[in-house]
Amino acid sequence: MAPRVIPVDSFDFVLFGATGDLARRKILPSLFHRFQIGQFDENCRVIGASRSQHTQEEFRALVNDALHEFGDIEPAAEADIAKFLELLDYAPVDARGDGGWSELAGKLRDNVVRAFYLSVAPSLFGDIAGRLKTTGIADDNSRIVVEKPFGHDLASAQALNAALRAHFKEGQIYRIDHYLGKETVQNLMALRFANSLFEPQWNSHNIDHVQITVAESIGVAGRGEYYDKSGAMRDMVQNHLMQLLCLTAMEPPSTFEPNAVRNEKLKVIESLEPVSMENIVRGQYRAKAGGDSYLDHAGDPHSRTESFVAMKVEVANWRWAGTPFYLRTGKCLRARASEIAVFFRKPPHNIFGEDNAIEGNKLVIRLQPDEGITLKTTIKDPGPGGMRLTSANLDMTFADSLPEAGRPQDAYERLIMDVIRGNQTLFMRGDEVEAAWTWADPIISAWDNATRTPQPYDQGSSGPEDALLLLHRDGRRWRPIGA
Ligand code: BG6
Repeated sequence: MAPRVIPVDSFDFVLFGATGDLARRKILPSLFHRFQIGQFDENCRVIGASRSQHTQEEFRALVNDALHEFGDIEPAAEADIAKFLELLDYAPVDARGDGGWSELAGKLRDNVVRAFYLSVAPSLFGDIAGRLKTTGIADDNSRIVVEKPFGHDLASAQALNAALRAHFKEGQIYRIDHYLGKETVQNLMALRFANSLFEPQWNSHNIDHVQITVAESIGVAGRGEYYDKSGAMRDMVQNHLMQLLCLTAMEPPSTFEPNAVRNEKLKVIESLEPVSMENIVRGQYRAKAGGDSYLDHAGDPHSRTESFVAMKVEVANWRWAGTPFYLRTGKCLRARASEIAVFFRKPPHNIFGEDNAIEGNKLVIRLQPDEGITLKTTIKDPGPGGMRLTSANLDMTFADSLPEAGRPQDAYERLIMDVIRGNQTLFMRGDEVEAAWTWADPIISAWDNATRTPQPYDQGSSGPEDALLLLHRDGRRWRPIGA
């Protein structure tokens, strides 16, 4: 069975920052794959816009290179690439001046969806949004898409929201958190709200704790200067891990409408207790033999920026009081492995005797790699020998269970098509982003004011020692990274 493709309406997609890294690695390949699979036709337009002077031909050549470098292209795809390149046009535009805007306007068609993707520095969001409106290029039906970082604290996020809302309604603004486009993240909602098995158990009576891990094996070499201004808290926790926490902890929305879902996520963020410094650990990877450390990659021997964070978070509401959520993320860890692990409580009474210790069930939702779900259960050890218990996994790897789904789609493919469809469910609303900063800001300022530096950890390890203690102290243990 071929994957089901629902074509989208005809569109003109204007990509600001079209020659930048994200555009080449993710946005343009994602557009190509959706075109190749037949989700839109040859009448649609993808118009690159940026400061650099390029001809249409030069831009097409540049995109052709990007597709071959990053697009995971099959040899048989050359004819499709040639057709896709025909859709492309280019307009040199001065984001802060008048140059190029009327030429850009001349390339757009009437009566089609207009989407403007700002893959540029956030300092340009306001300028571009303003010019799109004053030149009449964008109207009340157009969509504007912005990438993270959406601010570096509450005040800057509020300023960005104000700059965008001066020209566009909230219903036109698509703030990307690419974690929401990941297949398994959406599956978390399906698992919770389309199966009656889990939801009655999904509370502090039955769940002991939850662990959310986003571990990366690579470091920040090559982007150290940028990363050092942000750190794991701003780069990963305030957005990606926060979204995973929200989807795990939120109440069932009454419908799958964008605002119904986002209202519930917002309530989770607003229920978070402030995190005290004893409940948070930050680390920095040290050099391994003959190699570089975080400080080398950051280019600052005194940097106090964290490449690792682990914390204990409490959601103060009826459903979750007494069930901590432990979050951890870091660079240069032992594996690239992201998961949400839900640890259920043990049965209240063990009828099988002391020799048969029973562990609680564990539901592990794997985001990457090997996207899938595992439920750890306790069963009888097969064969003779009396009633002995052992544990076994009910395991579902999506690629094996649903092979007809074909090539896994990148998060950006789903998100870009949702922009064209006008569906904001998987995008962050302005108040959600501000609430997340309201929670994160006091943690970051406490670090700024503290004298303690991040704890060093070995590259290829599970992070600093104190992160292990954070759970040991509560009589718990992290799941091994990449287990
Ligand atoms: C980005 C961060 O948002 O997400 C990067 O800026 C990080 O530092 C990346 O590496 C991780 O994304 P993924 O999809 O590879 O897990």
